[in-house]
Amino acid sequence: MGKLVLITGGAGFIGSNLALKLLAKGYRVRILDNLSPQIHGANPEVTSFLYGTIKNKCEFILGSVINDKDIATAMSGVNYVIHLAAETGTGQSMYQIAKYVEINSIGTAKLLDYIVNHKNEVEKFIIASSRSIYGEGKYYSAELGKFVFPLSRSPQQLEAGDFDVKYNGVNSPLSLCATDEDSAINTESLYAVTKFNQEQMALTVCKSIGISCVAFRYQNVYGPGQSLINPYTGILAIFSSLINSGSTIRIFEDGLESRDFVYIDDVTDATIMGMEANIFNEVFNIGYGEPISVIRVANTLMDCYNRKTEMIITGEFRLGDIRHNYADITKIKKVLGFTPKINFEEGIRKFASWVKIQRPVSSSSESYERSLEELREKGLMK
Ligand SMILES: NC(=O)c1ccc[n+]([C@@H]2O[C@H](COP(=O)([O-])OP(=O)(O)OC[C@H]3O[C@@H](n4cnc5c(N)ncnc54)[C@H](O)[C@@H]3O)[C@@H](O)[C@H]2O)c1
Repeated sequence: MGKLVLITGGAGFIGSNLALKLLAKGYRVRILDNLSPQIHGANPEVTSFLYGTIKNKCEFILGSVINDKDIATAMSGVNYVIHLAAETGTGQSMYQIAKYVEINSIGTAKLLDYIVNHKNEVEKFIIASSRSIYGEGKYYSAELGKFVFPLSRSPQQLEAGDFDVKYNGVNSPLSLCATDEDSAINTESLYAVTKFNQEQMALTVCKSIGISCVAFRYQNVYGPGQSLINPYTGILAIFSSLINSGSTIRIFEDGLESRDFVYIDDVTDATIMGMEANIFNEVFNIGYGEPISVIRVANTLMDCYNRKTEMIITGEFRLGDIRHNYADITKIKKVLGFTPKINFEEGIRKFASWVKIQRPVSSSSESYERSLEELREKGLMK
């Protein structure tokens, strides 16, 4: 009989894809997920594509990572824990602080408490961390002759329409570099605080009891199946629904801000490689390793849908948003032998083909506007 893998948040985007791949490899899979309405809609049986992909294919426990009874049921006989369950909205985390700490930090603490205090067969604990913990990431200053890790840009600078990243009085422009795992940690959102907290708790506790822990700092994961209804995450889903409903795309800053997009299949491959590898307590970046500007995202999507929609560069900004960040994936290549296979254009084509066959989510552009309004009301967006 195959080993038993518990995936918390296993009905979500990464978790459901991981579950199917693990099942195909002969593992037994158990999922603990509360089918959060923000991700799965009000009636998951009908409204959740992701839940539909794993339903009846593996053992499913409808429950929460902050509920002791659910944890005890879920942990029985488990060999590997892949802890993905989390609240994931960066902007939202800035005004739902207790909720993010409770689900992300306390949820992880409770799972670790269970492992430390109960007899169990856990061999490895995988924790989903995030590139958000690096904040702005790594730059090179020719003026100082060294790498620097700038803090977030000030509201005054952004209000003046100057979006470039600055470092401590350095006048000449900085050069963007890939962020490696030894880069400075600069958490710029409550979400990022909880992600760093989760990975450090897991690494510290697992080490003390001799269980291997692997933390993955995922970049922006995308692909077929990602939530099209959660307005708080997922630029690809948001832009897709705006393009397909003929609405205007309002692009923040000057549109040259960039992110590293990594395709879901690459992410699940890398995660399984980390689970199976004979390694003890490691942290890995998972990204494609290429910065892609927001304008390029919008244009690539419009090409794939063969539709043009109005695009306005608004100069608006969200406080705490980073300008750029892309992963240095040297370590994961070297230690796990992982190289991403799907480049941005190919991945977007696959994503867009999937979106085309989904029921249109008519309310998603309005709920996206509402989510921006919430940020404006709380002074988090200008
Ligand atoms: N997708 C990305 O781009 C990305 C990037 C960096 C890090 N991550 C991390 O990877 C993990 C998975 O991300 P995802 O994109 O699959 O997110 P997702 O929102 O699609 O999935 C999260 C799942 O967790 C479940 N969940 C939420 N609260 C829960 C609770 N209290 N108990 C049990 N289940 C709960 C939700 O119902 C959902 O199915 C998260 O920890 C996230 O922070 C994701």
